[in-house]
Amino acid sequence: MTENIDVEVDESNLPRRVERRPIGAPSVIVDDLHITYRVFGARRGGTTQDRKSLWDRAVSLGRPDTGPITHVPAVRGVSFVAHHGESIGILGTNGSGKSTLLRAVAGLLPPTSGRVFTSAEPELLGVNAALLPRLTGERNIIIGGLALGLNAKEVRRSVPDVADFAELGDFLYLPMSSYSSGMASRLRFAISTIRSPEILMIDEALATGDASFRKKSMARIEQIRDKAGTVFFVSHSLASVRAMCTRALWIDKGVLVADGDVDEVADAYHAYVEGRTDASSGAKLS
Ligand SMILES: Nc1ncnc2c1ncn2[C@@H]1O[C@H](COP(=O)(O)OP(=O)(O)O)[C@@H](O)[C@H]1O
Ligand SMILES: [Mg+2]
Repeated sequence: MTENIDVEVDESNLPRRVERRPIGAPSVIVDDLHITYRVFGARRGGTTQDRKSLWDRAVSLGRPDTGPITHVPAVRGVSFVAHHGESIGILGTNGSGKSTLLRAVAGLLPPTSGRVFTSAEPELLGVNAALLPRLTGERNIIIGGLALGLNAKEVRRSVPDVADFAELGDFLYLPMSSYSSGMASRLRFAISTIRSPEILMIDEALATGDASFRKKSMARIEQIRDKAGTVFFVSHSLASVRAMCTRALWIDKGVLVADGDVDEVADAYHAYVEGRTDASSGAKLS
């Protein structure tokens, strides 16, 4: 299998395993969620191709023909309930629908069908979080802080802390385009956690950090969970998921195949990725 999951992370670099706490009230409810992307102008060979519906033809009237539409069912009937105080790892091979699921929970993608309820607006920390490359780190911290709802005074006060946490040094006053990818990802993480979000979702955003930053950011994630937040965590590092999470969801081809204790689900997923079992081994867990 081509999947580059990283199971060999040096355990000594990881924080001690997170404590299991009594879980609180529901924070995220996902009910039979389906997300289907519609790709226009795709060539033959897609998943399910069909001729354009009357609606699509009406919408595209007068515009150049965009060709057939391909439907990509990225999330297919996922349901789960997450609670305050839980940190939930999301496992699955590339293209299994992890990012799509998180974006839908964050409200960035409308469900094709099904429903998502959240107790607060989730904060999605992804690899593509919007930082502006031509502005300095300092300006990005200010803009990011304002976007998170801090007032001007709070934002200005947070700048030294954020810069310090992200280990920017003198780069704080240089445009982000001069940052290394590790530096940019540290800054992204530091900005997103200026304010402890009630629901934090991390989509492979810590992958570029080094071991010491990973440790630091995990401690910060723990603080968020301490404040009864809910954390969703997508990572290629199974060891990080085991260390960070109390529960895991495993998604395969858009379907939730397992939902349960992080170690049980991670073991089953690991066996699957190594080619020892098929994805139905996940279903046997739940
Ligand atoms: N914007 C998009 N348009 C069309 N298809 C997409 C889009 N984003 C993702 N997909 C497809 O949806 C499926 C799930 O992708 P994704 O959620 O990114 O998976 P993962 O994060 O687990 O790697 C894949 O088949 C991918 O090719
Ligand atoms: Mg992804």
